[in-house]
Amino acid sequence: MGHITWEQLPAEARAAVEKLIGPVVKVEAVREGRRSAVAVIVHTGTGRAFIKGAPREDATAAAQLDREAAVGALAATVAPPLVLDVTVGGWRLLGHEVVDGQRASLSPGSPDVQAVVEALAHLGSVTVPAENRGGLLWFEKRWSHYAPAARDLAALAGATLLHTDLNPGNILVAGGRASLVDWGMASIGAGYANPADLVINLIAAGHHPRDAEAAVAGLPAWASTAPETLDGYARLIASTWLYAFWSIRHPWTDVTVAAAQRWALHRRGTL
Ligand SMILES: Nc1ncnc2c1ncn2[C@@H]1O[C@H](COP(=O)(O)OP(=O)(O)O)[C@@H](O)[C@H]1O
Ligand SMILES: [Mg+2]
Repeated sequence: MGHITWEQLPAEARAAVEKLIGPVVKVEAVREGRRSAVAVIVHTGTGRAFIKGAPREDATAAAQLDREAAVGALAATVAPPLVLDVTVGGWRLLGHEVVDGQRASLSPGSPDVQAVVEALAHLGSVTVPAENRGGLLWFEKRWSHYAPAARDLAALAGATLLHTDLNPGNILVAGGRASLVDWGMASIGAGYANPADLVINLIAAGHHPRDAEAAVAGLPAWASTAPETLDGYARLIASTWLYAFWSIRHPWTDVTVAAAQRWALHRRGTL
């Protein structure tokens, strides 16, 4: 949930947005979300936009907004279009088309699972062209902070657009179609990471690891990856998330760490 309201933004920032999309006549708060300083749906006389932003002086948030903007149209097949991008009054504000969807349910039997798999099928064919690479993270570099084995790091490299922050709050399902939002951690890397991250989310939502893997088995990025490479990713993510979330006490982190470990043990054949 945003920490501040639309009205609390500097007047010049609001004016800059209104200059682009017209006067704002109504503002809806957004309940989901953990990071954004402001996250709202604004209504104008003619349409709506989802607006998210942060002060430029918050370096972490600013970098995430930079990446969301850098992804822009690259993710067009799976994400709502970026409709505005303003930096004014010390704030950066991004606007996306509103997705009239619901938070995805990834529980066993939910039709949303297939919708998300279809979105990942589209995402799997998005390679990041050289000119778009500047704004994004290199996936293997991010993991190097956690000192995994060198051979595991090399297996993370690739040219596919990776979301890397897949969780049900960042997946909106509308009319049987899943949209992926929140590209603040967008990275360039090995294509199997998108389906692998979904596998962990499916396990966290109650799937047996075997069924979670079966759900993504048809995705080329998964099917074309050597089992040993997937073993390496499972091992890496299970230990890294325990490390990364060590001091973040939140029910989501507990469930996610447990799911990653369950997946790693399953791949080792002990579950
Ligand atoms: N384009 C959109 N249309 C409608 N709702 C959205 C859109 N993008 C995000 N949301 C909602 O706003 C929430 C917060 O946005 P998100 O980009 O995930 O920010 P945060 O970094 O705070 O998690 C999301 O969980 C989702 O519920
Ligand atoms: Mg989010």
